[in-house]
Amino acid sequence: MVITAVVRRSPVHSMAFRYISSTMLIAETDRLILRHFHVVDAVAMERVFCDPEVMQFSSGVKSSQWVEQWLRGCLEDYFQKWGFGLWAVVNKRSAEVIGFCGLTRFPDVGGQPETEIGYRLARKHWGHGFATEAACAVRDYGLNRLGFSRLISIIDPKNIASIRVAEKTGLRFEKEVIFRGFLDSVYVISRPIHARNYPTT
Ligand SMILES: CC(C)(COP(=O)(O)OP(=O)(O)OC[C@H]1O[C@@H](n2cnc3c(N)ncnc32)[C@H](O)[C@@H]1OP(=O)(O)O)[C@@H](O)C(=O)NCCC(=O)NCCS
Repeated sequence: MVITAVVRRSPVHSMAFRYISSTMLIAETDRLILRHFHVVDAVAMERVFCDPEVMQFSSGVKSSQWVEQWLRGCLEDYFQKWGFGLWAVVNKRSAEVIGFCGLTRFPDVGGQPETEIGYRLARKHWGHGFATEAACAVRDYGLNRLGFSRLISIIDPKNIASIRVAEKTGLRFEKEVIFRGFLDSVYVISRPIHARNYPTT
């Protein structure tokens, strides 16, 4: 009932209906569920994108309008562009959306297309191993279900917590690149099999 009401008001209603009727679950771990985002997750994601501490190593605090646009972009990534994207991380005990973790396709990272494991959690959920638990599930989904042979994380060298998450997920430092005008470190996990042939943009 609540979902229907939100969907009627939303400019992304057609995608939202497809969302409701499609399989939303991506992965389940001991403590977490990873699932597709929906427009009703806007408030939870404002706790992520509107918090200066959470956005410290990113492009700054975002508005509510930006968050709605970002959710719309997630739906497009799932249903129109890639078949994957950034997913909602849900705490199974509380049923709360605590942040995102997922895969983003970039056409040019240091001169080549790459698929990134990305993660960002609301501040009150840091320090419990949730990001690593989610990133490991995304790593396995990317390598085993989607067939990627290589996944990366693009990390500000000063972002020690993110580097630790990448390392605990099995990624290793490969190189530094200038990405979107900033010097970043690229951490990589790969396996010696042929990836599915995803188109690049
Ligand atoms: C990065 C982030 C996702 C980590 O979430 P989390 O659930 O706290 O991560 P985990 O608990 O799985 O692991 C964090 C690790 O970093 C360590 N860590 C955290 N802050 C640290 C610091 N300032 N210095 C050194 N280590 C630090 C923790 O001790 C832990 O390592 P350990 O298990 O070896 O002790 C979270 O801090 C976040 O959302 N940050 C803002 C967004 C962001 O930077 N995303 C990544 C962009 S590349």
